[in-house]
Amino acid sequence: MKRTYLIIVAIFALVCTSCTKSPSLDAQIESKVDSLMSLMTIQEKIGQLNQIDPWNINDELKADIKAGNIGSLLNCPPSIVNDIQRLAVDSSRLGIPLLLARDVIHGYKTIFPIPLAQACSWDTSVAYDCGEVSAFEASKAGIKYTFTPMIDVTHDPRWGRIAEGYGEDAYLTSVMGVAMIEGLQGSNLADKDKIAACAKHFAAYGLTESGRDYNVANTSESVLRNWVLPPFKAAAEAGVATFMAGFNELNGVPVSGNSYLLRDILRDEWGYKGMVCSDYFSVEQMRVENYVSTNAEAAAVGINAGVDMDMMGKVYVAHLDSLIKVGVVKMETLDAAVRNVLRLKFKLGLFENPYIEADSAESHFYTSDAIAKAQRAAEESIVLVKNDSGALPLNASKLKSILVTGPLADAPYEQMGTWCFDGDKSHSVTPLMALKQQYGDSINIIYQPALTYSRSRDLVGIDAAVRDASKADVILAFVGEEAILSGEAKCRADISLPGAQNKLIERLSATGKPVIMVVMAGRPLTIGKEVDESAATLIALHGGTMAGPALANVLFGKVVPSGKLPVTFPKMVGQIPIYYNDFRTGRPADYRPTLIDEIPVEARQTSLGFCTYHLDAGVGPLFEFGYGLSYTKFDYSPVTLSATEITAADTLTASCNVSNTGAYDASEVVQLYIHDKAGSLVRPVKELKGFSKVKIKAGESVTVNFLVTAAQLGFYDNSAKWCVEPGEFELWIVPSSACRTAPAQFTLK
Ligand code: BGC
Repeated sequence: MKRTYLIIVAIFALVCTSCTKSPSLDAQIESKVDSLMSLMTIQEKIGQLNQIDPWNINDELKADIKAGNIGSLLNCPPSIVNDIQRLAVDSSRLGIPLLLARDVIHGYKTIFPIPLAQACSWDTSVAYDCGEVSAFEASKAGIKYTFTPMIDVTHDPRWGRIAEGYGEDAYLTSVMGVAMIEGLQGSNLADKDKIAACAKHFAAYGLTESGRDYNVANTSESVLRNWVLPPFKAAAEAGVATFMAGFNELNGVPVSGNSYLLRDILRDEWGYKGMVCSDYFSVEQMRVENYVSTNAEAAAVGINAGVDMDMMGKVYVAHLDSLIKVGVVKMETLDAAVRNVLRLKFKLGLFENPYIEADSAESHFYTSDAIAKAQRAAEESIVLVKNDSGALPLNASKLKSILVTGPLADAPYEQMGTWCFDGDKSHSVTPLMALKQQYGDSINIIYQPALTYSRSRDLVGIDAAVRDASKADVILAFVGEEAILSGEAKCRADISLPGAQNKLIERLSATGKPVIMVVMAGRPLTIGKEVDESAATLIALHGGTMAGPALANVLFGKVVPSGKLPVTFPKMVGQIPIYYNDFRTGRPADYRPTLIDEIPVEARQTSLGFCTYHLDAGVGPLFEFGYGLSYTKFDYSPVTLSATEITAADTLTASCNVSNTGAYDASEVVQLYIHDKAGSLVRPVKELKGFSKVKIKAGESVTVNFLVTAAQLGFYDNSAKWCVEPGEFELWIVPSSACRTAPAQFTLK
């Protein structure tokens, strides 16, 4: 049987959620904003721009709320949400409700895989489900605004925040980020189960030098436009309610005071109408960055650049009034910022429904629907990167005994991953629990953690695990990073397995028993040696509440792995930045160059060849972007094109038959890459332009069609000009970015 999939790459559905509302509703909201604004004093207006994380709820805070000096609170305990809201609604002069916010990054109570793991699914419904469940649960606790998705493209796995984003590619990040926004916001922000999302951190935070958090980013206009900004533009077009300006500087200018980004691009070019908040203290920190000398200057630069809401810094409440009096900040600037905040509050229906229902929020947490979605997300997110001689899937009927080992095998807290304020570890199902639940009656499951936590260097437990290995048919080793080793400010210069985990794998491998290594981490790790030592390797990253059952299902073949890597895994840290869509250079490594141990003593200067590589790391990464195996086998036919010459007005159809020639029904992520053979700026060797995750039954094949228009072939140059240049292009439909099949060729006239 043959089915046909049509993927319209050219018009990727950036569904404009806010645009779906009738103009009259928007007009009604504008008129409500107008009436309210006409009643407000300057102090009350400034108060709306003040966002506070109270740390403790004291009388001073309550007085500020009553006085109208606070527009938004983050991290308000759910038990007092209604009391605090009542202070604003009943006791402040104008009764403007507070906007209650919290970071709900990959789940509120039911924790989904970290965003980087979600990106491994290449399945937008995973991000959508995460958004939908997050909004449902968080809204029950009074949260109406969250700071997600993080759509910072990055090439640096040392950066701890790589865990929070969708990897290294602008297109994949765009579609996953938009799906998350749609899940959180729905089609109407006023729905009681929906909350406002935030596209963060605008912009270029992911380019932080040396992968060190809060560091500077320096880049060209074309890199900014082609790689960094597309996910933000997609988020703006999808109607994301807010943007967050980040902590970093971009080419010397802090992004929280960067009017080029926040006004020229966001407002003027993209026509964005939502609210812009700062990051935590990021306006005030412009003084620490030596960009301004005083907090008053920071406030002026922040609001003039386009930051509407000041998170935590209190510099707007402290200084805007006098800045307006002396004319450094114009009244229109203040009014525009306040309007953006009030508009959001009206859109969220906060004036009509400021309170949460008094019934217990708990009954809405961890519902069977949420748990099922979290488990499916975890299953879709697992990537098989090695499977020697069919080591996986395990055959339950043939196994008598398995050794479950490693510090992540039974670590309910750690598997939830970073940025997880509210998930309760008592709901996590670990791999050990799931394996016991599913196979404990038929297989002898020996558990020996070997190391009590990922950083442990205590070798005693490793001896015990090695002893137990002799009693087992197969070893399942769950290694990786604890949750606290990735996320904000959790950067690592060495991204190998922490502690003595490398020793653990080495010793287990030496037993001769097959080692199945499962990596549960917040970033790509340099695990080449450990991969070599294992018979099979699964990259699971931090899979959330239901990581355990998802892994058990994949290990035993109830679920066939279908994830692909959204980010390059380097062999060595020294290769970073290493990413798939790099440039060919004038000296490409088209042949295997000499490696360090092969160099003869006193080698002549010319004997090594001259190409772009490292003597010690060689050419290429450990695992490339888009890579992932399956238990089945997929064959790709040569690509056919509907034309070999197109004009800018044409649509090209590129097709490929993908056949499942193995023994398992499975899903495959079919990827479309394009290369512009010559441009007015050098072009990346390959660029992802579309993908489709297709289910194919064993023995069947599907035709996957991608529609490509000239819009896919353009790029921004260094003067921010969009260029679609005639010339020759190469096109691949392949299972991963490194696939070297001959490309199809076409010409844009
Ligand atoms: C982070 C943001 C986060 C904010 C609020 C900051 O430190 O950079 O991503 O949303 O805190 O908690």
